[in-house]
Parts: sequence; C-alpha cells; structure tokens
Amino acid sequence: MSDSTPVLFDRLGGTSAVAEIVQLMYERVLADPELAPFFEGASMERLRQMQYHFLASAFDGPAEYSGAELTKIHAGRGINAKHFAKFCGHFADVLDDREVDKRDINAALGRLAMFRDKITGDANVDG
Ligand code: HEM
Repeated sequence: MSDSTPVLFDRLGGTSAVAEIVQLMYERVLADPELAPFFEGASMERLRQMQYHFLASAFDGPAEYSGAELTKIHAGRGINAKHFAKFCGHFADVLDDREVDKRDINAALGRLAMFRDKITGDANVDG
C-alpha cells in the first residue's frame, strides 16, 4: 500500500505514550470499586507489561503478544458485558484526557470491542 497514514499505534503517540496509557488506564480501573476486586492478587507489574504488548499489537504497533489466550485468562472470573464496558470507558477517558483525536479514540475502542466475547466468555462455545 502506498498509504502513508501512520498506524493507530503511532497515532496514539507510539511506545512511550501507549505504555503511559496502559499505566493510567489501570490506575483508573483500580480506583473503580466495581472493577478493582477482579484485580486483587494480580501482579499489576506483569499485567501492565502483558497488556502493553497485547494492545501495541492490536493497534498495529511493533510488538507481539506471546501470552496466554484471552479466553483462558479471563474465564471463570465473572466478568460481564458491563464490566467490559466500564473497562473500555476508562481506556477512552485516558485517551480523551490526552486529547487524542475522537476518530482515533473510536478506532481504538473498535479494536477493543473485537475481544469482548473472549473476555466475558460469551463466545465460550467449543466446537
Ligand atoms: C479489551 C479488554 C481486555 C484486554 C485486551 C485484556 C487483556 C489482558 C491481558 C493481556 C492480560 C495478561 C495475561 C497474562 O498475565 O498472561 C490480562 C489479565 C487480566 N485481566 Fe484482562 N483484558 C481485558 C479486559 C479485562 C476486564 C474487563 C477485566 C475485569 C473487569 C479483566 C481482568 C483481568 C485480570 C484480573 C487479569 C489478571 C490475571 C492474573 O494475573 O491473575 N480484563 N488481561
């Protein structure tokens, strides 16, 4: 393609910006009484790293996610569509605070939405 539009990862600001976005997003998630209990006992340091790689890759950045499959990680935790929506809401708020272009916020939310069924277990039907 001769399209020179930067990929979403770069439009969000690249490596350091996306790392910061992940950090700020989990700060909000942990400050949310409905979401915080899910993360009790989780290693946040590791989670931030894994999430950085996952999102950087989902946003077409130069990263690969080599962790476990999302369905497996989130299964049996009781995460529902409302939790998922709140999680994405915190992500969107961080981007909004950084004055990311609305179209890019929507593009990023669209990428996250593709994983909803895996996170909430709604697609947990084998075969
Ligand atoms: C698009 C949305 C989401 C993505 C892309 C995502 C991705 C990930 C990734 C990459 C990990 C790290 C896995 C590892 O350590 O190997 C993880 C862990 C985790 N996720 Fe999510 N997640 C999402 C939404 C959520 C939501 C909505 C919740 C709960 C409200 C949640 C709860 C957790 C918990 C508790 C862990 C840590 C597991 C542990 O280390 O004990 N996630 N997620």
